[in-house]
Amino acid sequence: SALSPRVQSLMDEIEAGLPEGRIPSAIFGNPEVYQAELRKIFGRSWVYMAHESEIAANGDYVLRKIGEDSFIVSRDEQGKVNVLFDACRHRGVQICRSDSGNSSHFRCPYHGWTYSADGELVGAPLWKNAFGNMKKSENGLAKAAQVESFHGLIFATLDASAPPLREYLGGMAWYLDLVFGLDKDGVEVLGAPQRFVVDANWKSGADNFSGDDYHLGTLHKSVWSIGAFPVPFSENMMGYHIQASPGHSLSFSMAEYADEPGPNFFGFPEDLAATFKGSDISPEQLEVARRSRVFVGNVFPNFSILALPMTEDGANHAPTGVLTIRTWQPKGPGQIEIWNYFIGYKNMTPEQKDRTYRAGLGTFSLGGAFEMDDTEPWLTVAKNGSSVAAELLDFDLNYQMGMPGVGIATEVDPDDWPGPGKVFWTRYEEGVQRNMYSFYADMMRAEPGEWPEFEF
Ligand code: FES
Ligand code: FE
Repeated sequence: SALSPRVQSLMDEIEAGLPEGRIPSAIFGNPEVYQAELRKIFGRSWVYMAHESEIAANGDYVLRKIGEDSFIVSRDEQGKVNVLFDACRHRGVQICRSDSGNSSHFRCPYHGWTYSADGELVGAPLWKNAFGNMKKSENGLAKAAQVESFHGLIFATLDASAPPLREYLGGMAWYLDLVFGLDKDGVEVLGAPQRFVVDANWKSGADNFSGDDYHLGTLHKSVWSIGAFPVPFSENMMGYHIQASPGHSLSFSMAEYADEPGPNFFGFPEDLAATFKGSDISPEQLEVARRSRVFVGNVFPNFSILALPMTEDGANHAPTGVLTIRTWQPKGPGQIEIWNYFIGYKNMTPEQKDRTYRAGLGTFSLGGAFEMDDTEPWLTVAKNGSSVAAELLDFDLNYQMGMPGVGIATEVDPDDWPGPGKVFWTRYEEGVQRNMYSFYADMMRAEPGEWPEFEF
């Protein structure tokens, strides 16, 4: 699994360039880099699969991806969650032909081998003649090496040597708590995920959701023009950029003083927010959520979260909180499938769920006011990254915002912030992205079984 010379040299360039805030453009389009990522990043990291509410009943399943490979995420008859490689043990045929459903068994279309929802082989046509006393227990579906949930978010990894999910999330867990743990009964996915293919590199999505707040004033200017977002641009740039742990970054739009007027709790309705006490989140976490106008973050590699106040139709409605999660599903060096889900808190009224869903659809969806803006520039990041010119000119990209002496961002004293990680004040800052690429290069260069540090 050694890296090719070209990939190796690009990873060396990242390592050498990051202290200067520079990243080679070619990592966003080079096909060798992409092939290495499938193995070194997606083949090893904890990858987001589904939310438990999507497979609430025994027998429920959804079909999801790790890298480019299909996995059946099923709840078996014992209520346990399984992540099964969607390939028949007989000839490797894809078994599951539906995106979601409920079934106690999966039957291969080729010769009819049949597996239970936990992946065990239970039978095949004309079993006695064909296979006699062959051992069924040795011929089940292959499973992800490890599967774990956090706040109902199911993650899986193909690497048996991966550290436990909680350790992998590191400081990010504290911040996920204060978004997903606000309602003591948890969250649920509202409706089926939206899926759409964009000719972009998966890292552009992860990079943007690590905390690219700066683009809002230019690319999303129209959102303010129609009154869909209540916080003025310059005010919205106030807040914190946080490297929660190596790889995982996030950003809060937040006023400087705790008694600053709202919107609080990402704009969720006040009567709902009044019930936010969580089951196991601390008063400090609750206070950070209360003060927060926007939360945006990325769990390395490709799972992003966004909570913010939005309205579905400009100034006609007051903004309401929207919570969306998405994966940047890799389909090639220059292609992703975006899987986009809207999330509601369990104790929302049906009207509140309807409102948040509509406001989400109007902004962060295929036809959403924000989403349409974002995907177009990402197309050209991938196109230029794969160009002859980028290679011949050693074209590198600038990630210097907020470095010492560059701009106004300053590191926050750990005593002045209740959560984990490296914290910076004002969101004019790109350390959040540098953190992602630093961990990315470490993962790309790591030998099998070897893991980068999860603490700074
Ligand atoms: Fe599945 Fe033969 S390939 S039963
Ligand atoms: Fe955007």
